[in-house]
Amino acid sequence: MRAACLLLLLLPLVSAQQFGWGPCPCPRVQSDLDIDKFTGVWYEIEKIPTSFSKGTSVKGKYEKIDDETFNVVYSMIVKGRTKKAEGIVKILHPEEPAKLGISVSYKPFRPFWVLCTNYTKYAIVYSCRDYHLFHKQFVWILGRSCSLSPHLVQKAKDRLEQEGIDTSSMTATEQHDDY
Ligand SMILES: *[C@@H]1O[C@H](CO)[C@@H](O)[C@H](O)[C@H]1NC(C)=O
Repeated sequence: MRAACLLLLLLPLVSAQQFGWGPCPCPRVQSDLDIDKFTGVWYEIEKIPTSFSKGTSVKGKYEKIDDETFNVVYSMIVKGRTKKAEGIVKILHPEEPAKLGISVSYKPFRPFWVLCTNYTKYAIVYSCRDYHLFHKQFVWILGRSCSLSPHLVQKAKDRLEQEGIDTSSMTATEQHDDY
């Protein structure tokens, strides 16, 4: 009870980080995701702000290691310096290939769900952490180039809203053509 009261007090403060009551929701994912076609470079266009991914010119390069494992290298500019982080993306459920797992910098695997992509232009990636009483959601709209038309960004947000995911706290990531 006391913990719940404390959470009630805290939630408004952290709402920008997308906490919600109850367990993680289960949005629809891309059926029959072809992961080979998903590899390559994806630029971060918009996201729900996170504590672990800050900076500008954020992009990730996904490369196949074997049939179920992919290497990802994220790069971004933080305070004028290029920073990199490496991770592993893994197929966890062969029958639902879009429900991938990701581990960055040797941290535990987290969901990396591809909700929607057409491989050549845009992708929506979703993650959620379950804290029993509440959950925390993460969303990224990704593009194959460093900008995406406002129309496509809006379409991606409409899709997220259809899944009951609040997009109001999403922010655009500053990208630079020359990087
Ligand atoms: C992906 O979407 C873009 C923009 O709507 C379109 O131009 C492109 O042809 C699509 N790619 C595929 C493989 O459908």
